[in-house]
Amino acid sequence: MSKNRVLSGVQPTGNLHLGNYLGAIRNFVKLQKDYECFYMLADLHSITVFQDPKILRENILETAAVFIACGLDPKKNIIFCQSSVSGHTELAWIFNCVSRMGWLNRMTQFKEKAGSNKEKASVGLFAYPNLMAADILLYRASHVPVGEDQKQHLELCRDIALKFNNDFNKKDFFALPEPIIIKEVARIMSLKDGTKKMSKSEESDSSRINLTDDENLIEQKIKKAKTDSGMLPDNLNDLEKRPEAKNLLSIYSIFKKISLQQSIQEFSGKNFSDLKDKLSDILIKEITPIGKKIKEIKKDRSKLKDILMDGKERANQVARQTIKEVHEIIGLTL
Ligand code: ADP
Ligand code: TRP
Repeated sequence: MSKNRVLSGVQPTGNLHLGNYLGAIRNFVKLQKDYECFYMLADLHSITVFQDPKILRENILETAAVFIACGLDPKKNIIFCQSSVSGHTELAWIFNCVSRMGWLNRMTQFKEKAGSNKEKASVGLFAYPNLMAADILLYRASHVPVGEDQKQHLELCRDIALKFNNDFNKKDFFALPEPIIIKEVARIMSLKDGTKKMSKSEESDSSRINLTDDENLIEQKIKKAKTDSGMLPDNLNDLEKRPEAKNLLSIYSIFKKISLQQSIQEFSGKNFSDLKDKLSDILIKEITPIGKKIKEIKKDRSKLKDILMDGKERANQVARQTIKEVHEIIGLTL
């Protein structure tokens, strides 16, 4: 394994939001200085629930534009589409045979996404964590920056790596990747319900701040964000019982680069409207320039395609080597 190699991915399902930015993409940008980074558009993950082909195509390019608009350098990092490197599905099949039904049965994200109708969920949605393990181990990544919702999948990836090494008596073949989860930004919550995470798949657009939202939309969404009836609290214990207040204050603290405790002090005894005014200002300042860049970058489709093509070639070189070694280990090479 490369000690300093990062891999992560984002599903190109549109509506990239503040949670994706803070929980994932902003950290990708920070890591590019010190690590060799592979950043992937996880298109094969996104088709575990039906995607309209025309919209998927647009969303792939849009997500690539988001990566670049947020500050990822396509020369320095390897930015590519998962489906363009066949090693992902090849290794995923092998991992389908290593991973256990019992392990996948414990995955909470499948339970949430499949909901009450498990019988009708795709097999892909169930097996998705095996594909995610393949994404990571194909590049022998040492670190994986993700939001907290992906932690369980990372643990499964480690279990698969261990079982593979044990089954084939290759003690250190796959080293165990470490998650990078930044506690303060690990779970940005919905603006409509402070107990649910902000998500692309939530129907109500006002539950999230999208990276392409303009000034007016940001202001309106923050104005309408759910609150409770009290004044803002003066201590962390009280704040813990008030999820909406905690979420808004947390977002404010992150962008102000101050601790949650300092934000509590700043707003203690004040109305939500005071916090909301300041929060909208700072969000407008931080998010709208990114939105403008996304729109600009998206216009040059052929440049985006070239970036993905270059990423594909660079990723494929590393991927082929792993597949070759895996085939030898498991007896598929004659
Ligand atoms: P979503 O859950 O909105 O569909 P993805 O599953 O594509 O988004 O997530 C892409 C990355 O963004 C993952 O690393 C995920 O952990 C992170 N992420 C998604 N939502 C949030 C959130 N509300 N807070 C923090 N990180 C998040
Ligand atoms: N499963 C991740 C998500 O839904 C996206 C993803 C796919 C990923 N493969 C990955 C993240 C590998 C980190 C590493 O957000």
